[in-house]
Amino acid sequence: MSETLTQALVNLAYVIAASLFILGLKGLSHPRTAVRGNLLGAAGMLLAVVVTLLDRHIIGFELILAGFVIGAAIGATLAVRIQMTAMPQLVALFNGFGGAASAVVAGAALIDPTLQPSGGITLQFSVATVLSGLIGAVTFWGSLVAFGKLQGLITEKPVLLPGRHVLNLALLLGSLALGALLVGAPQEFWLYWTVVAAASLLGVLLVIPIGGADMPVVISLLNSYSGLAAAATGFVLSNNALIISGSLVGAAGLILTNLMCKAMNRSLPNVLFGGVGAVVATAQEQEDIYAGKVKATSPEEVAMLLEGARRVVFVPGYGMAVAQAQYATRDLYQLLEAKGVEVEFAIHPVAGRMPGHMNVLLAEVDIPYDKLKGLEESNSLFPQTDVVIVVGANDVVNPVARDVNDPSNPIAGMPILEVDKAKTVVVIKRSLSPGFAGIPNPLFAADNTLMLFADAKKALTDIVAALKES
Ligand code: TAP
Repeated sequence: MSETLTQALVNLAYVIAASLFILGLKGLSHPRTAVRGNLLGAAGMLLAVVVTLLDRHIIGFELILAGFVIGAAIGATLAVRIQMTAMPQLVALFNGFGGAASAVVAGAALIDPTLQPSGGITLQFSVATVLSGLIGAVTFWGSLVAFGKLQGLITEKPVLLPGRHVLNLALLLGSLALGALLVGAPQEFWLYWTVVAAASLLGVLLVIPIGGADMPVVISLLNSYSGLAAAATGFVLSNNALIISGSLVGAAGLILTNLMCKAMNRSLPNVLFGGVGAVVATAQEQEDIYAGKVKATSPEEVAMLLEGARRVVFVPGYGMAVAQAQYATRDLYQLLEAKGVEVEFAIHPVAGRMPGHMNVLLAEVDIPYDKLKGLEESNSLFPQTDVVIVVGANDVVNPVARDVNDPSNPIAGMPILEVDKAKTVVVIKRSLSPGFAGIPNPLFAADNTLMLFADAKKALTDIVAALKES
C-alpha cells in the first residue's frame, strides 16, 4: 500500500475515532444514553490506539491482542469490584496515570530521535514537551494526593502550610523558567527532569491544602489537566487523535468543574485556595442553635406520619451513600406507592461527593428516572408536600445558605432544597454533627422538623417494618 493511501486511511480512522468520542460525550449527558455513550467512547479509543500502534509499527498484532485482553481483564475487574463511594478516587488514579504517561512519553521523545520531527527538533516540539512534562507531573502528583485523601491514606483535612501561595507561585515560575531554558537548549536533557521535579512538588502542594470533600471538584480539574497534558503530547508526537482526545478531555473536565462550582455557589479559587472544611462548628455554636429545640422521633412515629401523607419527597444526601441506604429507600418508596402515596425524589446537584452521586445510587435500585426531580422543580412543590424524608443530607438542605451577608458562612448563597417549606420534615442522620461545610443546621431545630437519629439504612428498614405492621 502506498504511503499516501496508508496516511489517508489512518487519518480516516482518527476522524471516526474523534466522532465516536464526541458522540460518546453527547450520550453521557443523559442517564438513559450514558451506557451507550460510554461504549462509543471506548470503541473510539480502541480504534485510535490500535491504528496508532499499527501505523507507527510500534508492535504487532499478538502484543495488541495481549494488551487488549490484559487491559480488559483489569478494567472489568475494577468496574465490578469498586464500591460506588470509591469511584472518585479511582477516577483520580486514572487521571494521574494519564498525566504520568504524558510526562514520560514526552521525556522519551526528547531522547529518542525516531519520535522527533523528521527535520529535527522544532519550537513546537520543544514547547509541547515542556508543557507535557509540567502539566503531566502536576496531574500525576496532584491526583495521587487526591487519591490518598479520599482513600484515607493521608488526612482529609486541608493542610495549610504557611507561605504556601508564595511557594506555589515560585515553583510555577521556576518550572516555567526552566522550561524556557529547555526550549532554548533541548539537548540539555537534565533540564526536563528538573521541570518535572518542580512540577511534581507543585502538584502535591496545590492539592494538599484542599479538604477531602472538595476532592471531586479537584479531580474534575485534574481530569482537565490530564487532557491538556495528553493534547500537548499529541503535539510532541504529531498525533492528531491524541490532540483531539486530549482537548476533549480538557474541555469536558473544565465544564464539569465549572458546573460543580456553580451548584455550590463557590468560585474555583475558593475551592482551590479557600481551605474549606478546615473550620468545624464548635460545641458552643451548635448548642446556641439546637439547645431545647430538637425533637427526636422514632421509626414507629414516622410510619404513623406516613400513613396519613398524600405526597412524600425523599431528599438523599451523602449519608445515604455512606449507609448504602438506597435499597431501603427503594423499599419504602415502593411501599408508599403501593399505598397510593405520591412519591418523588428531590436531587441537589452537589448532594453526596461526586457529580450525579445520588442519581447513580438511585438508578442502581431502579428508581424510575422521571421520579427524580431537580432543584427548581422540587422547591416549587415543597409547600404542597406532607412529609419530606431527608436521608443523610445536611448542607444541601441548610437554610443558613440563604444568609448571603455573613462572610464566615461557607455555603452563603448556595442554592438549597427548601425542605423547611414542607408540612413536616423527617431528618434521618446519626447525630447533630455537621456535614461537609462544618456548620450547624437550623433545620434540625425547626418547629416542623423531627430528627430520627440512626444509621439511614437501619432507620428506613425499621420504618418499612413499622409501616407493614400498621
Ligand atoms: P453533607 O452535608 O456532607 O452531610 C452528610 C450527612 O450525612 C452528615 O451530616 C452525616 O451526619 C450524615 N451521615 C453520615 N453517615 C450516615 C449514616 N450512616 N446514616 C445516616 N446519616 C449519615 O452531605 P450533603 O447534604 O449531601 O451535601 C454535600 C456536601 O458536599 C455539600 O456541602 C457540597 O457542597 C459538598 N461537595 C459535593 C460535591 C459533589 S460533586 N457532590 C463536590 C464537592 C463538595 P451524621 O454524622 O450525624 O450521621
